Amino acid sequence: MRDDIERVLIAEEVIEKRLDLIAGEIERDFPEGTLLVIILLKGALVFAADLLRRVARPLEIECLNVASYHGGTSSSGQVDFLDRRFPEVKDRHVLLLDDILDTGRTLHAVKQRLTEAGAAAVHTGVLLAKDKERSEEVEVDYTGFRIGDEFVVGYGLDYQGRYRNLPYVGVLKGEIAGI
Ligand code: XMP
Repeated sequence: MRDDIERVLIAEEVIEKRLDLIAGEIERDFPEGTLLVIILLKGALVFAADLLRRVARPLEIECLNVASYHGGTSSSGQVDFLDRRFPEVKDRHVLLLDDILDTGRTLHAVKQRLTEAGAAAVHTGVLLAKDKERSEEVEVDYTGFRIGDEFVVGYGLDYQGRYRNLPYVGVLKGEIAGI
């Protein structure tokens, strides 16, 4: 698996230090009470698990399955909600976590659904944000790292279902990603 990686973009220790800082910001920013964290599956799983264990606040976790990539290396442009049940968010302060901000469509669509469902506030956090023009402008409250506009894997991010368990963020060799 590691032989398929051209280069490590963000090392594990660097991610860990950044998560310490973001967790501190979350603890300071959210009002008293239990916050509701919504994790977008599957990409944000690893990021969320490592981040939330650093947040010393009462919180509840919900997960949402949304799809926009359908296995390739570019967004399909359509955001599909795959769950039959939508979390109860009315009057809750929500922290929405995703792995990466690319076109912005996913976070925009989910944030809109949460707002329509009556959330008191929706804050957003991503491990990575690609430096590019977005189809949908969406404000992100917590960003781990800004990266160039290239396809990355690891630390939750996949290519055709693989590489999510790499402990770092890396760039796939061109011949593997077929680019
Ligand atoms: P949008 O375009 O809606 O994209 O902001 C968000 C979702 O697209 C996936 N994505 C990636 N997945 N490597 C990946 O493994 C990437 O470089 C990448 N860029 C976008 C991801 O699922 C994210 O939630």
